[in-house]
Amino acid sequence: MADMAADERLRVLVARRLFPEVVERLGAHFDVDYRESDEPAEPDVLAARLQGCAGALIAGTERIDAALLDACPGLRAVCSMAVGFNNIDVPACTAHGVLATNAPGVLTETTADFGFALMMATARRIAEGEHWLRAGKWTHWTVDLFAGSDVHGATLGILGMGRIGQAIARRGALGFGMKVAYHNRSRLPAADEAAVGARYLGLTDLLREADHLIIVVPYTPETHHLVGAAELALMKPTATLTNIARGGVVDDAALAEALRERRVAAAGLDVFEGEPSVHPALLQVPNVVLTPHIASASLPTRRAMANLAATNLIAALTGGTPPTPLNPQAAASRR
Ligand code: DGY
Repeated sequence: MADMAADERLRVLVARRLFPEVVERLGAHFDVDYRESDEPAEPDVLAARLQGCAGALIAGTERIDAALLDACPGLRAVCSMAVGFNNIDVPACTAHGVLATNAPGVLTETTADFGFALMMATARRIAEGEHWLRAGKWTHWTVDLFAGSDVHGATLGILGMGRIGQAIARRGALGFGMKVAYHNRSRLPAADEAAVGARYLGLTDLLREADHLIIVVPYTPETHHLVGAAELALMKPTATLTNIARGGVVDDAALAEALRERRVAAAGLDVFEGEPSVHPALLQVPNVVLTPHIASASLPTRRAMANLAATNLIAALTGGTPPTPLNPQAAASRR
C-alpha cells in the first residue's frame, strides 16, 4: 500500500507498549501516538489520547463503549490484539460507524498448549509439589506423595468448542488417548466430531462425566457464572476444572468453596473475575494452580497477535479489507 503524503496522514493511537517493529509498521502509514505503557489505558486517559485519532490499536484490557465512542467522534477503527472482545461493545461500535476487529486464529495452538499444560499441572499437582519442595519439606518418599489423577485415557470435558476448544480436543484425543466430550452453543459438524471422536453432551451431562473440564467459552451476559455452585455440585469430587476463557464465566467464590471442601479435586485458573485481583479465598486453597492470564503468551504468538491488529488497522484506514472484522457492516456504512 502506498504511503500517504505527510499532510494527509491519519493519526492512530497505540494504547499499550508493543513490539517496536509493529509500531514502526504503523508509522509507515500513520502519525502514531505511542502510549508506551504497561498499564491499561483507563477510559478517561483513552478518551483524551484518542482525540484527533482515526484509529486505535488496543489490547484486551482497554474498554471501548458508547461513552468512549461519543467522546471520540473522529474514531473510525478499533483493532484489538486479543481474540476475546468482551471489552468492546461491538453494537455500539457499529452504531457509531466504527469498525472493530479482534485477533482470532493466530493464538489458537499456543493457547491450546497452555490450556493443556495447565490442566496437566492441575491434575498432577505440579505447582503444589513444587511449592512444597522449595519450602524444604521434602524429607522422604511416601506412597501417595502428591498423587493426583491421570490425564491419559480420562474423559476430557470441553466447554466451548471453537477453534481453541477443538485444538485442545486434538491434543487430548490424539496425544493422550482421552475420551473427548464437549458442550457448545452449536454442535460441530459430524466430520469435525469424528476427527477427534468428540461426543456432544448437554452441560449437565458434561459436568457429570468430565474427569478434566476445560472452559474455553467467550464471556458474554449469557456465560456469566455459567459454572457456579449448582454446576460445581454436579462434578465428580475427583475431577479438575481449568479455566482459560475469561474471569466471570466461573463463579470464583463458589469454586474456592468447592476446592476447600474437596468437592472438586483441583483447579487451574488463568483468568479471574475482576483480574488482576484474585478472589482471596482462591489464594488460601492449595489445590489450585494460578497463572496471570498468560495462555497466549509465547513471544511468536504475541508478535503475531500484535501484527494482526496492525494489519487490521492499516487495512481499515487505507481502503483495504481488514482480515478479521467483528462488524464488517460498520466499514460499509462509512462508505
Ligand atoms: C485473548 O486474546 O483473548 C487472550 O485472552 C489475551 O487477552
